[in-house]
Amino acid sequence: MDLDADLLNVTDPGRRFDAMAELRRNDPVHRMDGTDGPLYLASRAAVADALPNIDCFGGAVGAADVHPDLQSLNGVSEPRHGRIRRIVNGMIAPHKAGEVRPFLEALCSERLDAIDSMGSDPVEAMGQFIDHVPSSAICWLSGWDAKDAIQLYRWTVEICEKAMNMKPGNSGTIADMVPAFGDYVEERVSARVALEASKWPDDGMTRLLTTEIEGERLSPTAVKTQLLFLLGAGSETSRDMMGLLLYHLASDPELYARVRADRALIPKATLEALRLCSPTQFMVRRCTKATEVDGHPVAKGESIYIGLASANRDEAHWSDPTRFDLDRPNAADHLAFGDGPHVCPGTFLVRLETRIACNALFDRYERIERAEDGPFEPLRTPMFYGPATLPLRFFRA
Ligand code: HEM
Repeated sequence: MDLDADLLNVTDPGRRFDAMAELRRNDPVHRMDGTDGPLYLASRAAVADALPNIDCFGGAVGAADVHPDLQSLNGVSEPRHGRIRRIVNGMIAPHKAGEVRPFLEALCSERLDAIDSMGSDPVEAMGQFIDHVPSSAICWLSGWDAKDAIQLYRWTVEICEKAMNMKPGNSGTIADMVPAFGDYVEERVSARVALEASKWPDDGMTRLLTTEIEGERLSPTAVKTQLLFLLGAGSETSRDMMGLLLYHLASDPELYARVRADRALIPKATLEALRLCSPTQFMVRRCTKATEVDGHPVAKGESIYIGLASANRDEAHWSDPTRFDLDRPNAADHLAFGDGPHVCPGTFLVRLETRIACNALFDRYERIERAEDGPFEPLRTPMFYGPATLPLRFFRA
């Protein structure tokens, strides 16, 4: 078994999960590539220690050499990070993100109408339903036409693939990686700036341009950077987790019936899907101050893999960790959103999206079934995990 190759296996997530389990048993803080590669943290304890330690692991790969206006939130150092995070929260924190609810309810209903119009044949549920939800939500919150959401989602997929090949010190920005995506956002930010300020609508784009925190205000270029990042951070991850939840609901009629009958269980099902899926399988952070982990020295500038998916299946913390267990008492301990000052600020939005999508599904269908046996077809990337496609049959109540 080539553990290092398996940890980053692109086509077979089963090999990734097996390699993580092997590390948890024998080498929970693992030096990759023999003796001089980056560390891979596999135990929940090591991951939970590293995530909030932004003093030592506060950098993002690729963020070091670019102009501050081109650094997406995850790559900004304190104290500026805290200020920009508060500006971004003006768009995605609960008091503002909650406004997307009626739009999302209508969107889910529209997508399910489209599915019903396809007759009784199996329907590819990711493309027809789930893929639309997170990217449309961010589009709507930004103030853009939600009809563009699927194109925007496709661009984020392209970026995820390219980002996997980035090396420390690489100064490529999101806009460099997919210029059409950069142009799309640039056009909208420029059009807003060109408009007389009194005519700016109250949407996410305006809030990013106008919010000032402790003297910090984002330039139009910095607004474009954060919007591009938000679309990437919030689309792939959310659709992956919702896809995994849908896979379990479709695979287990009792689970479907139980959550359908008691909608208060949707948040528990969401937690368990987050734990088991870990849509971001690992974080790659850059070491900003020389330190050591479990006796292994880590030099300034080195990358470190923080294994969220491995932590979320650590046998030392979870019983029967590979099982989807709606009654798991400690499901909320998952680290799928990271932890510490960089913990995901999109958690409210994800939960809202999932609740709306599940309610739409349960209201309309008595049961759903998988149209294919065996595991789902996974995404072909080591960094994200979820169904690429999910053919389902839908049975109306
Ligand atoms: C299931 C869905 C999601 C998962 C699993 C997820 C996961 C994560 C993870 C692991 C991090 C890094 C945390 C750390 O470094 O400790 C992160 C950061 C981030 N996420 Fe999410 N995320 C999700 C959805 C979203 C959504 C919907 C948005 C917004 C629209 C979003 C915006 C962000 C941002 C802006 C950051 C950077 C935060 C910072 O560095 O301060 N995420 N997310």
